Amino acid sequence: MFTVEELVQYAKNTGYIYQGSEIYGGLANTWDYGPLGSLLKLNIKKAWRQKFIQERIDNVLLDGPILLNNKVWEASGHVAGFSDPLIECKKCNQRFRVDKLIHDFDGTDSDGWSLEKLEKYVNDHKIKCPSCGAFEWNEIRAFHLMFQTYQGAVLDKANQVYLRPENAQNVFVSYKNVLRSSRKKIPFGIAHIGKAFRNEITPGNFIFRTREFEQMELEFFVKPGTEIEWFKYWKQFAMDWLVSLGLSKDNLRFDDHKPEALSHYSNATTDIQYRYPWGFDELWGIASRTDFDLTQHQNHSGEIMEYLDPETNEKYIPYCVEPSVGVERLVFAFLAEGLSIETLADGTTRDVLRIHPALAPYKVAVLPLSRRDLSSKAEEVYHLLSKHFDAVYDETQNIGRRYRRQDQIGTPYAVTIDYDTLEDNMVTVRERDTMAQVRLPISEVVDYISERIKF
Ligand code: GAP
Repeated sequence: MFTVEELVQYAKNTGYIYQGSEIYGGLANTWDYGPLGSLLKLNIKKAWRQKFIQERIDNVLLDGPILLNNKVWEASGHVAGFSDPLIECKKCNQRFRVDKLIHDFDGTDSDGWSLEKLEKYVNDHKIKCPSCGAFEWNEIRAFHLMFQTYQGAVLDKANQVYLRPENAQNVFVSYKNVLRSSRKKIPFGIAHIGKAFRNEITPGNFIFRTREFEQMELEFFVKPGTEIEWFKYWKQFAMDWLVSLGLSKDNLRFDDHKPEALSHYSNATTDIQYRYPWGFDELWGIASRTDFDLTQHQNHSGEIMEYLDPETNEKYIPYCVEPSVGVERLVFAFLAEGLSIETLADGTTRDVLRIHPALAPYKVAVLPLSRRDLSSKAEEVYHLLSKHFDAVYDETQNIGRRYRRQDQIGTPYAVTIDYDTLEDNMVTVRERDTMAQVRLPISEVVDYISERIKF
């Protein structure tokens, strides 16, 4: 397992991820996804969409705005309650999330504790400032996590809006429109992929916790009483998706929340945790959210959210089961899992990113053995392949180094054009993991690769 610093370096050198606003000294905890990282993110979203929507009879997609009517956030409870407990050291002025401070101190999980209970714990255990060692704290207060901005030219209270802190509310407020227009029947799901913003007190660990991130959420609506069955179903479905894309079972586990640690709207919650370089941490949250959100929106908007079962004529507000995952946490996991340094039979080493071909930024590299004589044929092959896959063209340095470069960024196939190609229209196709090579007619390469990168 690589350290966070090694992964940051790897991501920067290869073109996966760079520091945001770097030429101005950066902006803390913002990241640019480079030529490789941007494709990896797209491929992760594609693989998620494929299994959670495309291949399903029951789920549909929605794409809603980042800015929503403020009443949405009043109804959802975010205006009143979306905060983290913040503590500030009087001596060095460093600020910490109290739940994290306590967890780092002795492993105690303080989810759901009141500010008073947190304060008593910090005082009783004399928890010191991790930064300067002092035991001189200001009073703990709730720090609101939603970003605010203004819509329109007048910067007054009436025009103040929030950037959405989760995608889920887009789904709940459009639930009736989607139900009506898609003619879905319960059970069915509405999925949403998009940016979310939280003014986190302690962002960090590279792309693990940032203030701007992207979520893929599914809100799956079910008949009350069946939600726990569906909760278990989506837990396993999410886990299977991760394993099918190459994360090892040893690096994944469920963390079921204890009843006392459940959010007020949930009757069951689990995190799928991944073994990040600092230990197991949350990758994917799966929550049974009951009918809390639709009921809140019914009460605040006056719109009836009840569902009429066409077979039994029963009326009810559906319950909701929600698997919600951050794209960046998946990027981190797939890079950490895939990267390795291998010693080859001849004693040399190669860096190789053994990432699932469906996720790999480029599916194929096109490499002419000679720049002078073969580039025109190689460009022809590149244009043929790039109609089907993301491909990369590389004609610099010797072929061994070019293979290494593709291994390092995870390109599953390399197609080499040599002098014989000009005569027989055949190319050599090399596979990343085994380094095995086959010779194929150019006309068969698309099918050969397509067959092997399927997900
Ligand atoms: N709608 C439910 C919801 O938003 P959450 O557990 O707060 O639940 C879901 O977030 C997922 O979003 C997390 O499991 C994580 O993958 C991702 N996520 C949350 N906060 C994040 C942050 N600050 N940076 C990166 N990813 C984050």
